[in-house]
Amino acid sequence: PKELTQLVLDNLREIPDFPEPGVLFRDITPLLSNGEAFANLIDGLAAHYRGHIDAVAGLESRGFILAAPLAVHLGIGMVIVRKAGKLPGPVLGIDYELEYGTARMELRPETVEEGSRVLVIDDVLATGGTAAASIDLLEQAGAKVESICMLLELAGLGGREKLSGRDIDSVVIFESA
Ligand code: PRP
Ligand code: MG
Repeated sequence: PKELTQLVLDNLREIPDFPEPGVLFRDITPLLSNGEAFANLIDGLAAHYRGHIDAVAGLESRGFILAAPLAVHLGIGMVIVRKAGKLPGPVLGIDYELEYGTARMELRPETVEEGSRVLVIDDVLATGGTAAASIDLLEQAGAKVESICMLLELAGLGGREKLSGRDIDSVVIFESA
């Protein structure tokens, strides 16, 4: 959704050396606290995906902020893909590698309708580990992952490659990570 690129860029804050020296953190809190910008973002995403999807999957936790209003706006359900140990069973889970250590995403398969067209949404695509695990889980549960929407893509960290072959709708792409 290219028409939203400037809207997001205008409402980002860049913080050098957070959370560690050498890392440039892109903060979406100004976008969220600007009611008009946030509403315009959700309106724009809804217009783009309306009629093409049956459910919105949000990735804990910042993906929830985007998925919930979008699902309500479209009048469709929201599926939550959560970090380890948060969802009561039965759950499907996938472990994935982080720079240091591992992480795990989980999904209640009963929340996914067989064959439903799902939009996966999150705030940032970096290494792609979170998104790849979440997409695998949704597909294991019977979803058809129709679209992937990332507010920010940090190119150069391998995320796009990890989701090889899939279309990714990134609202803003930063070339140097
Ligand atoms: C951040 C971000 C994405 C993920 C991207 O989440 O919100 O979900 O990392 O990284 P990846 O592409 O390398 O997997 P984080 O785990 O920091 O947690 P949060 O959303 O709960 O803040
Ligand atoms: Mg996250």
